[in-house]
Amino acid sequence: MKQFVSVNDVTDIDALVALALSYKADPYRHNTLGARKRIGMLFLNPSMRTRLSTQVAAQQLGMEAVVFNVGSEGWAIEFEEGAIMNGTTAEHVKDAAPIMGKYFDILCIRTFPSLKNREEDYSEKYINQFIRYAGIPIVSLESATLHPLQSLTDIITIEEYLATQRSLNPQFANRKSKVVLTWAPHVKALPQCVANSFAQWVNAWGKADFIITHPEGYELEESFSRGATITHNQDEALKDADFVYVKNWSSYKQYGQILSNDMSWMMTNEKLGLTNNARVMHCLPVRRNVELSDEILDGPNSLVTTEAGNRVWAAQAVLAEIIGNRQ
Ligand code: CP
Repeated sequence: MKQFVSVNDVTDIDALVALALSYKADPYRHNTLGARKRIGMLFLNPSMRTRLSTQVAAQQLGMEAVVFNVGSEGWAIEFEEGAIMNGTTAEHVKDAAPIMGKYFDILCIRTFPSLKNREEDYSEKYINQFIRYAGIPIVSLESATLHPLQSLTDIITIEEYLATQRSLNPQFANRKSKVVLTWAPHVKALPQCVANSFAQWVNAWGKADFIITHPEGYELEESFSRGATITHNQDEALKDADFVYVKNWSSYKQYGQILSNDMSWMMTNEKLGLTNNARVMHCLPVRRNVELSDEILDGPNSLVTTEAGNRVWAAQAVLAEIIGNRQ
């Protein structure tokens, strides 16, 4: 694997999931693979899970991880080509990225979209300029439109749960799972990244009946959602679901806007009753009793803590593949 910014960088999802789960079973099995190698982790936006899980993953491979919170610790970076830099930005990405390429073996970057300029956000101008100028492999810790480490984790979590069920009931193996991505309310306008990415990965994984449900106006960009069944009827979508992935996103069509705050879209135990005793997932952080009710998050159907724990194994598998360049 040469970089990791979307599912398109992965040639074999099943193999990557298997590698991740092998690290979960034995975290230090490749503890010298990354010896004398270093990753840089650049945060242009806040993070808890992505930062900590990637650091832990690197350490378990014997790599050093250096975290740099660009927003609060570094010089403000300019990304415009030909900019006359007489404003607030202090150095151009063309100057900063190649230097990071000299300090590190892999550069991991988190950026967010502006949610103001759709064309610019969907051009992935920030991460693409690091790819262009750093000269070393780039790993996305979430970009303007995608969150691939989260989505790999989500597939790992689903596969892991299914494997447990199959071991308890072999007949389970013959059934295709129903996976539902449902929009949920939120107080802020959030990126489409997690939803885009989850859709992209579930479609590429190809092992589920995949339904996306949201209020009108929240259609995702079609290249990500194509392959899924899309409905505005949440109850219908939830019927017989095996996995329900809950997430808010702002509108892609009316870019960055909140079109609905309809609290009837919050996932509750009553809605869980429509499903096939579904496992409930969310990338976190979650707004309790807005996106998901306490009763679900604190109840037996929630996979959210397992899912967040699995972030380590996803990051470890990706870093190992890039160091070993095995895919
Ligand atoms: N899910 C996720 O990316 O969490 P953080 O924002 O805390 O990294």
